[in-house]
This record gives sequence, C-alpha cells and structure tokens, in this order.
Amino acid sequence: MLARGAKKKHGLLTGFLLEVLDTPYTGETLCKDFRLCGGCVSQHLSLEKQRQIKEREVLALFQEKEIPLGQYKGVFGAENKYAYRNKVDFTFGNQVKGGPLHLGFHQKAMRRNVIDTSHCLLVHQDLRTIRDVIAEYFSERQAPFYDIYTHEGLLRFLLLRRAEFTGEILIVLIISSQEEVDAKELERRLLALSLEGRIKGFLVGIKDSLGNFVDYEQVAYQWGENFIEEQLCGLRFRIYPESFFQTNSAGAQILFEKTLSLLDDGEVLWDLYCGAGTIGQIASKKFKKVIGIELNEVAVEAARQSALRNHIVNCEYIVGDVKEAVEGNIPSPDVVVVDPPRAGLHPKVVQSLLQLLPPKILYISCNPKTQVRDMEQLMASYVVEQSFMVDLYPNTGHVETVCLLTRK
Ligand SMILES: C[S@@+](CC[C@H](N)C(=O)[O-])C[C@H]1O[C@@H](n2cnc3c(N)ncnc32)[C@H](O)[C@@H]1O
Repeated sequence: MLARGAKKKHGLLTGFLLEVLDTPYTGETLCKDFRLCGGCVSQHLSLEKQRQIKEREVLALFQEKEIPLGQYKGVFGAENKYAYRNKVDFTFGNQVKGGPLHLGFHQKAMRRNVIDTSHCLLVHQDLRTIRDVIAEYFSERQAPFYDIYTHEGLLRFLLLRRAEFTGEILIVLIISSQEEVDAKELERRLLALSLEGRIKGFLVGIKDSLGNFVDYEQVAYQWGENFIEEQLCGLRFRIYPESFFQTNSAGAQILFEKTLSLLDDGEVLWDLYCGAGTIGQIASKKFKKVIGIELNEVAVEAARQSALRNHIVNCEYIVGDVKEAVEGNIPSPDVVVVDPPRAGLHPKVVQSLLQLLPPKILYISCNPKTQVRDMEQLMASYVVEQSFMVDLYPNTGHVETVCLLTRK
C-alpha cells in the first residue's frame, strides 16, 4: 500500500491512501479511474468482503470503549454494488494546467486537478449520459471553467439527482455570472436524450461566492420543476437540489425498514436532524405525534410538502439547530431518533438527552467514531438493546451504524 502523511496513533499507523500496490484479495476493478479518483477505495473487493471489513472496524471501535452492542444483528445492505448513488456533484476544471475542459471529480491527493469522470460506475447510466452531453456542449464552445484561484471563468459545477424508484431526474448547472450560457439550446439537447428515467427539471444556478462547494445564490433559468420525488417504504419524498437525502435509495429503504422494526408504538417521537423528514414520516403510523428538527430550511420545506403528499397529519417540523430547539417547549418524547452529520452530536445535545432521559434513543450514524464518542457518555444512563449496520456506500470506507438505547 502506498500512503501519504503517515502518523502513529495508539500503536496504529494511519495515512492517506494513495494506491493499493498489492492485495491478498483478488477481485476486479472495473473503473479505469479507480487509482486517480478518491471516491471508491475498495472496488476490487466483493461486496461481502467489503462488509466484513467495515463490520470488523466498527465493532473494534465499540469494543475499545467497552460499549456492548446488545443484540447485534449484523450488516445489511442492498445487492447493488454499482449505480446506487441518486446524487452526484461534478466539478468543471482541468487535469493539467492549460489542458482541455474536464467535468468530473477532484483527483485523489491533488485536489486542484479534475479528472473527466464520464463513466463513474456509482451513478446510473442516465446521469452519465447527461454528464457527457453537457461536457461535450461546453467543450465545443471552448467555454472557460471557473478557476478557484483567480476567480475567473464561467463553469463551476453540475449537480445531478435521479430518484432510483421513480426515475425522476433533476439537472442543476452552476455557473458564475461572468458570462451567459444558451440555456435554451442546452435544454433542447437534454430533452432530446433517450433515457430510462425522465427529466423533471433543469435549472441554471448562479454562484459568485468564493467557497468551492456546490450551492448557488440565484436561479437564472428553470425548465420544469425544481424538485424530484423518490418513493421509499410506500411514501413519496420530495427532494430539492439543496436538501439532504440519503444517497442510496435501495440501501435507505433497508435502513428505514429495519429502523422501523425497532420501534414500538408510542405517543411522541422526536426525529432530530430529520433532513427531508423520511424517518419520522415512515414511523408516523406508530406515534400520535412526530416532531422533526432540522437546520436546513429547504429540507424542512421538502418534509412539509411530502407530509401533505402522503396525507400524514401528525408530523410537525421545527427549523433550527437541534442544540437549541430541544430546550424549547415541545412535548416530551417516548423515543428520540438522532441521525446527525459526520461530526456527531453537539455536547449540549448529549447533555440535554441525559437531562431529559427519554425511555429510548435511536442513534443512527454515518461516522462510528463520533457515535462511539457520544455513546460513551450516554452509557451513564443507557444500555444498547439492539444494533446493526447498513452498507449504504458500497466501494467506499463508510457504513451506517444503528443502535437502539434503552434507559437503565
Ligand atoms: C445525516 S443527515 C440525516 C437526515 C435524515 N435523518 C435522513 O435520513 O434523511 C443529517 C441532517 O442534519 C442536518 N443538520 C446538521 N447540523 C444540524 C444542526 N445543528 N441542527 C439541526 N440539523 C442539523 C443536516 O442538514 C442534515 O439534513
């Protein structure tokens, strides 16, 4: 293995993986950019082997802190190793200074370089086709990409979403305001494509702010809708370009079904960090009231629209930071679901939970390191009753870990 920036910590050498030179596991690496792109790290392993490794690593983290995982049920996941991502962000740039226009991902360990990812296997063929048409359109015109160092140029990002179970597609081209694009002509080319799914919206967003992340300040052009819908566990969920939604729909469906099976009927459920309201709405039939709390206003708007669409009347949403909102005047919960971002729970949230002492906490995490950190404190008043993992991110090093905690 070739790694950079190796550090020794707790007797373990850690570093940034540059290349796998040799491996005891044989397998096929299908993507020609596997060695250049930072997205996949274990494409050369079978799904079964990938899950064994993830499981071993997560279990070791819990064992190290002596947190018993109660009735542990194993690693679940959908069977699709490829084409599972319902969202992809491509960046415009080039791979070598003065080189041709590329539309793809940042090169591993050389983030200034953009590789031309026309064939990323993690996304559906529809999204690859759309990427190719847009890349070709701007290459023909020799349009300049936005340079993050000089802040000059036009083309910034291409955000694509495709709902796996409805086939609805949303295309968002993000440019600076330094030049104009002929959005009508691009729209004509996109709508003429023969796709398995259906384009539901095409937007051109303007971003002049300096931050090199995918967002935009205003919409310069819109054809169709500014959202798509996904169908999960028999409900429809609205997804806007900016709102969080689990990126693997088939995997998320397994995650939500298994999560639901852990919950008994009750009065009040808090769905903290609720995103577009998926978990709370799927669990709403088991509770008299569901209260979702989420920082992102657009995600809450999506959750409210989905509740209307699903004829669900017992879900309420609060836009705000969980650490403040949980101290507000809201009905006490029987169950608190927490599904925080990778940073885990804010210390104030852990303290609030330890003061409130709800009978059950369901902790869903995409980062077992911060989950273990938070759960170490929660173990003062809770035990883990049941736990499992769901592999939402095949070929990457990530896994979702779910723990149902019961008050001692
Ligand atoms: C891992 S996602 C979970 C979303 C949702 N549970 C789902 O499965 O679709 C984490 C969510 O937390 C939100 N978030 C991040 N920091 C937050 C905070 N301090 N307070 C409230 N929500 C926050 C993000 O916007 C994101 O939607």
